[in-house]
Amino acid sequence: MNILLLGSGGREHALAWKIAQSQHTEQLFIAPGNAGTATVGTNVALKADDFDGIRRFVLEHNVNMVVVGPEDPLVRGIYDYFKADPQLQHIPVIGPSKAAAQLEGSKDFAKGFMQRHGIPTAAYRTFTAETVEEGLAFLETLQAPYVLKADGLCAGKGVLILPTLEEAKRELREMLSGMFGQASARVVIEEFLSGIECSVFVLTDGHDYKILPEAKDYKRIGEGDTGLNTGGMGSVSPVPFADKAWMQKVEQRIIRPTVQGLAEEGLEYKGFIFFGLINCQGEPKVIEYNCRMGDPETETVMLRIQSDLVDLLCGVAEGNLATRTLQTDPRSAVCVMLVSGGYPGHYEKGKPISGLDSVQDSIVFHAGTALNDQGQVVTAGGRVIAVSSYGQDKAEALAKSFAEAQKIQFEGRYFRRDIGQDL
Ligand code: AMP
Ligand code: GLY
Repeated sequence: MNILLLGSGGREHALAWKIAQSQHTEQLFIAPGNAGTATVGTNVALKADDFDGIRRFVLEHNVNMVVVGPEDPLVRGIYDYFKADPQLQHIPVIGPSKAAAQLEGSKDFAKGFMQRHGIPTAAYRTFTAETVEEGLAFLETLQAPYVLKADGLCAGKGVLILPTLEEAKRELREMLSGMFGQASARVVIEEFLSGIECSVFVLTDGHDYKILPEAKDYKRIGEGDTGLNTGGMGSVSPVPFADKAWMQKVEQRIIRPTVQGLAEEGLEYKGFIFFGLINCQGEPKVIEYNCRMGDPETETVMLRIQSDLVDLLCGVAEGNLATRTLQTDPRSAVCVMLVSGGYPGHYEKGKPISGLDSVQDSIVFHAGTALNDQGQVVTAGGRVIAVSSYGQDKAEALAKSFAEAQKIQFEGRYFRRDIGQDL
């Protein structure tokens, strides 16, 4: 079959790498893709949110399935766009409907959903400009640190964790007066949870689900989890504390009620669910839902899926996921992200990247790369290259990624040398 994958990051290169290995895949297109996806499929110069352009391309190239990498097209309703079009409605889109994508698109919706279905999460309340005084009073009832979340999508920047009541009050006022535009017209204030985070991924056809390998990502720019938040500096799978007993709690208390809750509320969901969890003294709680795979978690999770991913995606599309098998690789997988100097602040693009061909013991996934006019691979984003490796254990996988990362050079290159060391 012909598959169109939407997106352009490391997650999409990892998905493309896996989809390209499937016996079902004839042609793989990636829109817009990057210099890495061009090595496993055909890049198409279309933005992931250009629905009309995607429509034309899908019809012209006999695309049989659309796999959506990032959240934006899902939250904007690409699933519903296909469903509503007589010429497209038979073509499955892997991802939730617009209504179900609110699990990621609205923090307030996600919290309400968890409350309705008894899913463990931090206590919370939601405020608007009209109720700002109540919000300020609510903050006074909480203990530091204070967690403020813009309701809508903010490209990962909408969550503030503030050490003092004074700062929390100031930021609440700013958020409600338009700091993130419409996205912060509503603000969720929630209880701070302390523990180690873990990302759990599920593929669902709306009734049944398969639990994919879990992973931990490293969000801060600096070693020892210091400095600014980034899109993610590396990932590790499996996660030692996510053992059988813990995962059983996750399945019973979180995954099953989520999938059932979606079905009960008539929220169509055929795709990946990303559960951002935190381990609070052995008890899993939900920090957030995302309606897509994680990045850079996908760059390790795909290594640990042995089964044919497209076969599983067909099970999702056809509503018979229960009849498909998911085999996982018992080995460890890790990913170390090489980023541009200055990221997540200001950084320059267009720096030539060398040494990619000398990597032998790792799998290189491109994140922010492009081909320049001379056909040279250059940097095109903050996160540039993910170096993923297998190992009999985490230490072996990490040793490979760190050694291979050294071979890849570009001006300003930086990576964290402590990925996986805290576990
Ligand atoms: P979110 O976008 O909701 O995942 O929040 C971004 C990050 O903020 C999370 O990955 C956590 O590290 C942190 N965070 C969010 N909510 C909480 C909370 N209630 N308690 C502690 N940390 C949180
Ligand atoms: N790695 C976290 C995310 O993809 O949102």
